[in-house]
Amino acid sequence: MLASIKTNSFTNEGQKLGMMYFRVAIILFGAQLLMGLIAAFQFLVPGFLFELFDFSVARMVHINALIVWMLYAMIGSVYMMITDETGVETVGIKLGKLGFWVLTAAVTVVVLVYIFVQVGSGTEASIWLIHEGREYIEAPRWADIGIVVVVLIFYYNVFASYMAGKQTGIMTVMVANLMALAGLYLAGMFFTDNISMDQFWWWWVIHLWVEATWEVFVGTLAAYALIKLIGAKREIVEMWLWIEVLMLFGSGILGLGHHYFWIGTPEYWWEIGALFSSLEPVPLIAMFVHVLYDWGKEQGEAHGRGEEGNVVTNSPAMAWIVTNAFGNFLGAGVWGFFHTLPQVNIYTHGTQFTAAHGHLSFFGAYATILIGMMYYGVQKAHGVEKMKMNFNSKMGIFLITFGVLGMTVALTIAGYEQVLVERAELGGTWNAFFVAQELPWYIQAQLWRTIMGVVTLVGFIYLVWDLLTIGKKNKAQQI
Ligand code: HEM
Ligand code: HEM
Ligand SMILES: [Fe+2]
Repeated sequence: MLASIKTNSFTNEGQKLGMMYFRVAIILFGAQLLMGLIAAFQFLVPGFLFELFDFSVARMVHINALIVWMLYAMIGSVYMMITDETGVETVGIKLGKLGFWVLTAAVTVVVLVYIFVQVGSGTEASIWLIHEGREYIEAPRWADIGIVVVVLIFYYNVFASYMAGKQTGIMTVMVANLMALAGLYLAGMFFTDNISMDQFWWWWVIHLWVEATWEVFVGTLAAYALIKLIGAKREIVEMWLWIEVLMLFGSGILGLGHHYFWIGTPEYWWEIGALFSSLEPVPLIAMFVHVLYDWGKEQGEAHGRGEEGNVVTNSPAMAWIVTNAFGNFLGAGVWGFFHTLPQVNIYTHGTQFTAAHGHLSFFGAYATILIGMMYYGVQKAHGVEKMKMNFNSKMGIFLITFGVLGMTVALTIAGYEQVLVERAELGGTWNAFFVAQELPWYIQAQLWRTIMGVVTLVGFIYLVWDLLTIGKKNKAQQI
């Protein structure tokens, strides 16, 4: 059904390839949600699918699918904007397309292996063939190497086009940041027998991705999207972008310390982690201001010209980008700040509070803007000048956002209960871990999380339906 999206109005080859990436991304997003629901249900009925589809596997596929769909959507977004920004066709596009198929075949095999080989011992062979046992980036080593090759092709496409065409501020940040983002993946590829050392490097990928390079990436997308969707002035968005880059790297890199409190690293990380990670919300506020300020400014200028003020060329995309500004600030900034001081983290570490933050931040900072870019892709695919929201777009954004917020609140309550009972009252023992999970607050919170997960899934169905139909509807209205 996804193939029914018409791709004949694209103005360049990069956009076609971007759309291919978007399609796989949305399928993986769906798979992620289904796996999440299975894992959530297993919290309520622990014997559900026992030895058929264990919690560990459902959880693993849930969070790996999350990372992979986001990477797909990120790559898709870059292909969408290369020609627009540089003014030239994407260099080496045929190779880029080949890379897409190789990557997609590899991802399919990896997921099938996860599902069919669920138990067994961890050996050198299982690291190469099954998975590496590293949360979020579990791909087996053969696939790791494949990913590196495909990413090199992608980077070649971006870099060569950048060199051949115009070098805008947005593309300059994009090219430099993508190198850091891809390079960091290497830190998660080697294996050491010492668990502290292993975690030390693993966090380089996870933290320095989501709190540095991915955030900068989102900054470049927001800058680009604001120019395209509301005609924001390039000087203004690019000025903001440079400020954000400076601040994000300034706090995000040493903010890494908030993962080094309790894993066997030296104690000086307490101070470093506390200070720099507390500063992390500052750039997130700047990003928030960036989007809303530019939007307000453009609206104001339109009013000044005596126009109605609705200069948004793609309102569903814009709605998701504004949700991104709020979501990033709340999920990463506020929910992150809650537990980032070692004095607090000693109680909250590894509780459902962490999961609450994980859900709202990944959703708020990344899912939102990437969905916005998908709407932009659909607009390009159909050659629609002005894309308007309809009932399905509204239901999609409302139910998904409401569902994720609901899950976050439920998990925050579960985490609060764990902090009080398991950590403060019972001293954080192994036994306390189980006692806390059997009390009513925890169980009710897990029930609400599951209900809100279903709401999210219903919203997702509206979203997919909308992405498949909105282009045609708007095109028909335009003609
Ligand atoms: C969009 C940006 C962010 C994303 C996607 C994100 C995501 C996550 C995720 C998924 C975890 C759990 C990792 C695990 O499995 O152990 C985590 C942990 C953590 N995050 Fe974030 N985060 C973001 C930004 C922030 C910010 C800005 C702060 C601080 C101000 C922060 C503070 C923390 C802390 C302290 C932990 C450790 C929790 C624990 O000890 O259990 N995060 N983050
Ligand atoms: C149908 C909706 C969803 C349900 C039912 C669901 C359920 C779950 C469950 C049960 C876990 C395992 C938690 C644990 O080990 O204690 C989990 C982990 C996680 N999920 Fe979801 N999820 C859903 C949607 C999402 C979305 C939309 C995102 C982000 C965009 C997301 C991101 C994550 C992350 C980052 C983790 C790891 C958190 C951590 O370990 O701290 N999930 N989810
Ligand atoms: Fe972090």
